[in-house]
Amino acid sequence: TFEAFPRHDGVLHAESVPLAQIAADYGTPCYVYSRAALTQQFRAYSDALGDMPHLVCYALKTNSNLAVIDLLARLGAGFDIVSQGELERVLAAGGDPAKVVFSGVAKQADEMARALEVGIKCFNVESRPELERLERVAAERGQVANVSIRVNPDVDAGTHPYISTGLKDNKFGVAADEVLDLYTWAAGRDHLRVVGLDCHIGSQLTELAPFLDALDRLLALVDRLAERGITLEHLDLGGGLGVVYQDETPPPAQALVAAVRERLAGRELTLIFEPGRSIAANAGVLLTRIEYLKPGESKNFAIVDAGMNDMIRPSLYQAWQRIEAVDTRAPRPSACYDVVGPVCESGDFLGKARELAVAEGDLLVVHAAGAYGFVMASNYNSRGRPPEVLVDGETCHLVRQRESLASLWALESRLPETS
Ligand code: LLP
Repeated sequence: TFEAFPRHDGVLHAESVPLAQIAADYGTPCYVYSRAALTQQFRAYSDALGDMPHLVCYALKTNSNLAVIDLLARLGAGFDIVSQGELERVLAAGGDPAKVVFSGVAKQADEMARALEVGIKCFNVESRPELERLERVAAERGQVANVSIRVNPDVDAGTHPYISTGLKDNKFGVAADEVLDLYTWAAGRDHLRVVGLDCHIGSQLTELAPFLDALDRLLALVDRLAERGITLEHLDLGGGLGVVYQDETPPPAQALVAAVRERLAGRELTLIFEPGRSIAANAGVLLTRIEYLKPGESKNFAIVDAGMNDMIRPSLYQAWQRIEAVDTRAPRPSACYDVVGPVCESGDFLGKARELAVAEGDLLVVHAAGAYGFVMASNYNSRGRPPEVLVDGETCHLVRQRESLASLWALESRLPETS
């Protein structure tokens, strides 16, 4: 099987490029992505969907670098967006707006107008007031907005509370018992066209059962809508398939698609998925260098040059991501370390209690960093965000430069001298 970050003779590579070379050329910390891995993960969905009418709308929030969008667009991807910023990224990267679905609970009128202007495929509407606003905006423009209502199926995805979205306590979607009325209302409006039904129940799902529970509830709604004379063109099952960070055993995309296909047999519905993590997570690493080893009474710290501002998942979700040394050729004493960053917070860690054989100056990688990594980075502690490098075989493409220090305050100003 293909490995995006293989180790050859003790030296870790990104595809065919030694990671030490990338560190030398672009500095650390640095995000490194594998083109082949992104391609393979996207194709896992599109190949499994095969001849079935479908659209794989990559969830842009996961990793929205223009090169990643460009690559996926070339493979035929559509995109799930949640802001005008994401829409403009799709356009800037050459993506097709007709393959864009627009999710999110807080869509603003001007975002809706822009999405209508460029002709997106569908708005995934999350509430009645949003639907009313969309109708108004479409009417003002003399256009018809395609809508799909996001139902909150109230299924427990069994994932971390922060990334579970399909429970009735979550802010997302419309409760199943309100959906029918909302559709009936929408179906009677001149500037709305009801085209689909969607849901998204959470992220990092490691079982098929919650997906299939949600699907069954969606199909029951599809049938009840049909009774009311409302026929839908597509069903959007959202994203959410999990990945291996440690010892999880998520089903592969093929298994999800196969199970869904089986349940959809005999129906004329286009199937949409909005995967993010399962496409990008294991196609990326965060490359970082050890600044200091700091032995302590109760703990040893490996202090690295990447912090929670660069990669916040461990701090925010207590997420576990594998950390390993880039070069294992030289013998080093092994010890247990907390791998911590430079940020002035005790919550600034990338990993805790990791057995590592390392010395000061050594390079480490944090695995599974291609999803919700760079996109969640900030400038906290006035740290410039890291560069992003996309590796394609033996070639490195710098797809985002390291932020300069001057850029940190480029949008700010001092007070007027006279004040
Ligand atoms: N569609 C919608 C409407 C979503 O809200 C999301 C993710 C996706 C698709 C993509 O889900 P995926 O396939 O990636 O599971 N920052 C968190 C994850 C937040 C996910 C939010 N919604 C993390 O780092 O774990």
